[in-house]
Amino acid sequence: MSNYPTLFRSGSDLLHDPLLNKGTAFSEQERDALSLRGLLPPRVLSQDEQMLRVLRNLREKSSDLDKYVSLIALQDRNEILFYRAILDHLEEMMPIIYTPTVGLACQEYGQIFRRPRGIFISANDKGHVARILANWPLKEVRVIVVTDGERILGLGDLGANGMGIPVGKLSLYTACAGIHPSACLPVTIDVGTDNEKLLKDPLYIGLQHKRIRGEAYDALIDEFVEAVQRLFPQALIQFEDFANHNAFKLLNKYRHGVRTFNDDIQGTAAVALSGIYSSLRITGKSLTDQRLLFFGAGEAGTGIAGLVIRALVAEGMPEADARKRCWFLDSKGLVVKSRTDLTGHKLAFAQDAAPTADILSVIDTFRPTALIGASGKPGTFTESILRKMTEINERPVIFALSNPTSQAECTAEEAYRLTGGRAVFASGSPFRPVLFEGQTFTPGQGNNAYIFPGVGLGVVVSGSRLVPDEMFLAAARTLADALTQEELEAGRIYPPLTRIREVSTRIALATAEIAYDLGLATVPKPDNLPAVIKAAMFDPVYKSFV
Ligand code: NAI
Repeated sequence: MSNYPTLFRSGSDLLHDPLLNKGTAFSEQERDALSLRGLLPPRVLSQDEQMLRVLRNLREKSSDLDKYVSLIALQDRNEILFYRAILDHLEEMMPIIYTPTVGLACQEYGQIFRRPRGIFISANDKGHVARILANWPLKEVRVIVVTDGERILGLGDLGANGMGIPVGKLSLYTACAGIHPSACLPVTIDVGTDNEKLLKDPLYIGLQHKRIRGEAYDALIDEFVEAVQRLFPQALIQFEDFANHNAFKLLNKYRHGVRTFNDDIQGTAAVALSGIYSSLRITGKSLTDQRLLFFGAGEAGTGIAGLVIRALVAEGMPEADARKRCWFLDSKGLVVKSRTDLTGHKLAFAQDAAPTADILSVIDTFRPTALIGASGKPGTFTESILRKMTEINERPVIFALSNPTSQAECTAEEAYRLTGGRAVFASGSPFRPVLFEGQTFTPGQGNNAYIFPGVGLGVVVSGSRLVPDEMFLAAARTLADALTQEELEAGRIYPPLTRIREVSTRIALATAEIAYDLGLATVPKPDNLPAVIKAAMFDPVYKSFV
């Protein structure tokens, strides 16, 4: 998948190339052959010995933000050691390199900024985007994650500080699915920010004016997408953390002609649908028995409902009936047809019901089997709501997906305690296991990292021209099927992150199969697709240079 290293480097240049640098692990022979003698302390350390230092330094840090800074610094020095650390300690590292700590890192990006990573395209670059992309030194780009920073996690507009998100997501592509780091390109399109605090911050790294919108914005994104097609024709473009008006618009504009998807809409949908499939393995019910009440009719909520509806239709339910299984509450109450304030993506989910903001009465009428929280508003799953769900369901499904942890609709502890331990619970950001009445409950983390890296790998290996919803449906099923009986019995609805590479490999296979079945693949189908997928995955171990 990657031809890196393509350049021969030696001496100080080699030590300063994070994709090649092994630091004190360069052997005696390598030190002689590569003019490294004297540039390193005399003792040769193994990768395991280096790891001791990494872990000890990291665990001594008292704040998660300090841990984030320390890990990014390692990524800037020695990517192989960085990915070894992530992969071998995923449950410890993931909350640092991704949500929730990455949210904090984005908020403090100006303060913690050390060295740039990725490509920054600004509104001032109109007409020159291709030239800027050509400055990226690596030409074998396969995955681009791009944001405009307008809706970072549940934290709102963080402008150019949002770069932490593409950087973090691409680290997960490499850690979880083995996309080679040299094939990953983080991009931030800085069109300004409406965040007054950032505009006044002397350390803010982005353009110091309000967001440009309308035609000028659309033209800049068009120029970016076209330039990517020309410079990196094999690249997958993942749109990430755009505000919902742009997210839906851009997805609908490009999805039929460009190798692209929106993770907040489609990746979230797949991970949540997979959680629902797993909950059915626990409750013994079928998907067609489900009624879902969504809090939040944005990218995440309507994306999930769209995929649930596809899954119901695939099980033989007429689409009109499937739509009646997904009700939405937004900041103004129940999403119903008589409302005049609904935008396009919400209209498709409006029900024929009376307008109301009384959630308990909605629960009485609709009798949901599951609550899906994607509102970005903490505390919205109140005690009375959780108790009511327990009255009408033996095992209420409660997904508090808003990120970071501080924004979750309820905590894991609340979900278990207020349902008497009967909730099948998942959150977007991690919660620790909860001890309730002598029993330990392991909350599921509906982390998109279960889905997008595997889908991306399947797209890259097959060279799929597009990323259709069928791939996310297949990914959701594959993820739920990957759960073992023992894991289910332990109350898990997602496999432990320690199995992420195995899971991603299965999802990549399912995704690539869809590309071949739908005639979207541009790479001829090999006889041994599973082996080809495994061989394409980057393994963070040092290779000998001599
Ligand atoms: P969005 O801005 O597109 O939508 C938010 C929606 O919540 C809007 O429809 C708004 O009207 C509604 N809302 C606001 N206050 C509400 C309230 N009190 N009650 C009910 N609805 C309310 O945002 P998006 O992209 O849908 O993300 C929402 C949240 O979901 C964020 O916190 C995000 O981090 C999280 N998310 C979680 C994922 C995961 O767990 N895997 C993946 C993607 C997003």
